[in-house]
Amino acid sequence: MMNPILDVKGVTKAVRSRKLVNDMSFTVEKGQICGLLGPNGAGKTTLIRMITGLIHPTAGSIAIAGTDVRTRRPEALAKLGAIVESPIFFPYLTGSGNLLNLARLDPSLSPARQKERVREVIATVGLEGRENDRVGTYSLGMKQRLGIAQAILGQPELIILDEPANGLDPMGIRELRELILKLHETEGLTFLISSHLLDEIQKICPHVVLMKEGKLVWKGKTQELRQGNESLEDAFVELMTR
Ligand SMILES: Nc1ncnc2c1ncn2[C@@H]1O[C@H](COP(=O)(O)OP(=O)(O)OP(=O)(O)O)[C@@H](O)[C@H]1O
Ligand SMILES: [Mg+2]
Repeated sequence: MMNPILDVKGVTKAVRSRKLVNDMSFTVEKGQICGLLGPNGAGKTTLIRMITGLIHPTAGSIAIAGTDVRTRRPEALAKLGAIVESPIFFPYLTGSGNLLNLARLDPSLSPARQKERVREVIATVGLEGRENDRVGTYSLGMKQRLGIAQAILGQPELIILDEPANGLDPMGIRELRELILKLHETEGLTFLISSHLLDEIQKICPHVVLMKEGKLVWKGKTQELRQGNESLEDAFVELMTR
């Protein structure tokens, strides 16, 4: 059997006596778009920070495509692209400049290939024509696209987006959704996308992991979440208030 792209096993994060994330276990298989859904304060960002190696779990383990994030960190993180909370850029550099800075960190690429890869990802995320403008002049939606360009630059297997629609207008949210679906279809990328909005997850994620107060509440196919309830929303509310 193939390893899942993401394997979260019994992960807990305790700060003093409080468990921000409490014994979470789930997997994301290759090619899935999986939603991580939970209300504000559920622990989504804390969990994502552990998956992306920014903080260590108090207990449990996390593997990306079979590689443990703690014991083989560089190798594991090389398979991952992520935006945690909001993407980070140098505002005085151009979009291309920011991407080139990152591309240069990969010594396996020649300078010519680095530039070519930057052009490729700019085209993929639809920032052509604006790539030579300073990032400080970008709209929120453009910054989100540039963040995704950063995340896919190193050709990872798994992309993690933490609340990617935050602050975007309806058109921006729709464009983001289309971009994610395009990346999924054309590059076969696997996604874990967090949100506190059911509607957003439902539109794009065939699989979902629900969490509340640090704990796993439900995981499975989004369409099965609805079972026995009038609507998906009813099912969600039922699980969240149980
Ligand atoms: N370093 C920390 N020390 C103590 N408590 C923390 C720390 N970081 C987060 N928390 C708390 O952990 C809980 C989970 O926070 P987290 O940011 O992971 O939630 P979230 O699901 O991402 O919420 P949101 O939807 O608002 O982004 C919150 O109650 C938060 O106050
Ligand atoms: Mg958060």
